[in-house]
Amino acid sequence: MNKGKPKQIPNESRRVATSGDIEVSTYLEIAKEISGEQPIAPKEAISPAERETIIVIDFGSQYSMLIARRIRECQVYCELLSYDTPWKKIAPLNPRGFILSGGPASVYQPDAPLAPTYIYESHLPILGICYGMQVLTHQLGGQVSPGTKQEYGHAILHLSDVDSPLFADLSSSSPVWMSHGDKIEEMPSGFRALAYTENSPIAVMGSDEGIFGLQFHPEVAHTPEGKTILKNFAYRVCGCQGNWTMGNFINDSLARIKKQVGKGKVVCALSGGVDSAVVATFIHRAIGDQLTCIFVNNGLLRREEVERTFNVFRLNLGMNIIYVDASERFLNRLKGVTDPETKRKVVGEEFIKVFEEEASKIGKVDFLAQGTLYPDVIESALSGSRASAKIKTHHNVGGLPTKMTLNLLEPLRNLFKDEVRQVGLELGLPEEMVWRQPFPGPGLAIRIIGEVTKEKLEILRSADWIVMNEIKKAKLYRQLWQSFAILTDVKSVGVMGDYRTYGYLVAIRAVTSEDAMTADWSRLPYDVLARISNRIVNEVPGVNRVVYDITSKPPSTIEWE
Ligand code: XMP
Repeated sequence: MNKGKPKQIPNESRRVATSGDIEVSTYLEIAKEISGEQPIAPKEAISPAERETIIVIDFGSQYSMLIARRIRECQVYCELLSYDTPWKKIAPLNPRGFILSGGPASVYQPDAPLAPTYIYESHLPILGICYGMQVLTHQLGGQVSPGTKQEYGHAILHLSDVDSPLFADLSSSSPVWMSHGDKIEEMPSGFRALAYTENSPIAVMGSDEGIFGLQFHPEVAHTPEGKTILKNFAYRVCGCQGNWTMGNFINDSLARIKKQVGKGKVVCALSGGVDSAVVATFIHRAIGDQLTCIFVNNGLLRREEVERTFNVFRLNLGMNIIYVDASERFLNRLKGVTDPETKRKVVGEEFIKVFEEEASKIGKVDFLAQGTLYPDVIESALSGSRASAKIKTHHNVGGLPTKMTLNLLEPLRNLFKDEVRQVGLELGLPEEMVWRQPFPGPGLAIRIIGEVTKEKLEILRSADWIVMNEIKKAKLYRQLWQSFAILTDVKSVGVMGDYRTYGYLVAIRAVTSEDAMTADWSRLPYDVLARISNRIVNEVPGVNRVVYDITSKPPSTIEWE
């Protein structure tokens, strides 16, 4: 995207993980690294020769990952790779086409990132989006210049060549989302304009060689017919048939896990979150009793969370689970701790200690299963450092497993969160587990402002239970990225009956988000808020006031600590 907002850099001192599971796996990965081990790269789940793959070449747009998601939604496998990725890394993926993403640069700047020449030499179809369109114009001999009129926001796209394969099933005029400053002055030879907007005479261009450029963003929701364009590119231009389905993925991955593990033993930390639940179920399906799960109750979980997780995994799925109630240990370690990052560090350290103690009781273990997802893989690859290294600096973990010589099993590392949910459903996990909202690894500890005590945990659990209950009753649970209660350290005066009270202030947070990097506060209906508030002050002793958090992220974060 040209001159758009710069890509948001997460604050190094805070977690930006989107799932509590990531936290668990991060602790384990850090532990493994410090014990001197290097994870073994997993082998491909589906043979690339059979799999249709489209590569998105990333120039740094905040929407790049979204392009890959949209292509996958069309049942075509897609990977996002940086513009400086060498051909030898791309060749084994056997791509059917390339998409050049948007990005913040201008092609006429001296150090502007360009597409590697192998893209043009491959003679495969190319779709340039925004900056990607300008890159291919520039590299193929056309001319790009700084636009006199910058174009941001909605525009209406009018097709001038309705027969282009890119436009099959598209309306002759449709809204698109523009975001660019530079413009195509002169197209490269062999190209012609296929569509225009009021301010962009060349909003879409194409050549007979299957190279196309779009001046707008087809991947965002503000371009309602954008997915059709991407689908047309994948199917009609690149010739894909759509063989990326979760059913195929599961079958291929089960075979691969069986082969990789052989007769070995696998250990997996279960948190009750979606990712670890799906990983455990997946691996259990492949190798049965060779898998042991360790479920640590850190005392910072929500009400009934332990029972629910336990029922699903041990009773329904018949898995080997070691359950450890370490609540007292965690609570003791958290005594007097008020600083949010120290809370995270303490919870992380204690988790590793408990995990190590339990894992050492199983005997020899060969593999550690983790719920790493594709966004983590991309983030670590594109930022040039491993995500865990970033997190390590702020967790600065102390207690470590000493002699764990484990290989990594990461069956979900090529999947987006929504794909993980689909896999979970296909594996037969209950909907309520698959659609669970993310919950942070340090749990309720970072939703209690100030010191964590048993009494405060109980208050927060009760308030949180009511929030969840009412949100589910109003059928809003799935629409929200997260909805929860926070126990503040503010006390205020109230009146109940004939008595004055001096009780805690509880805050409610409910946000919508796609990826937790940005979020908006949800416009919850007033009557839902009223019910939540009434029930909390009536049913939770010690609380006499409820407020609703109406800040978005940024500038706030989703969690209060
Ligand atoms: P923030 O508060 O940074 O949260 O906007 C973004 C997402 O990350 C989750 N989160 C965490 N997850 N350990 C985790 O596993 C953590 O320390 C942590 N802090 C925040 C948060 O719930 C939201 O989904």
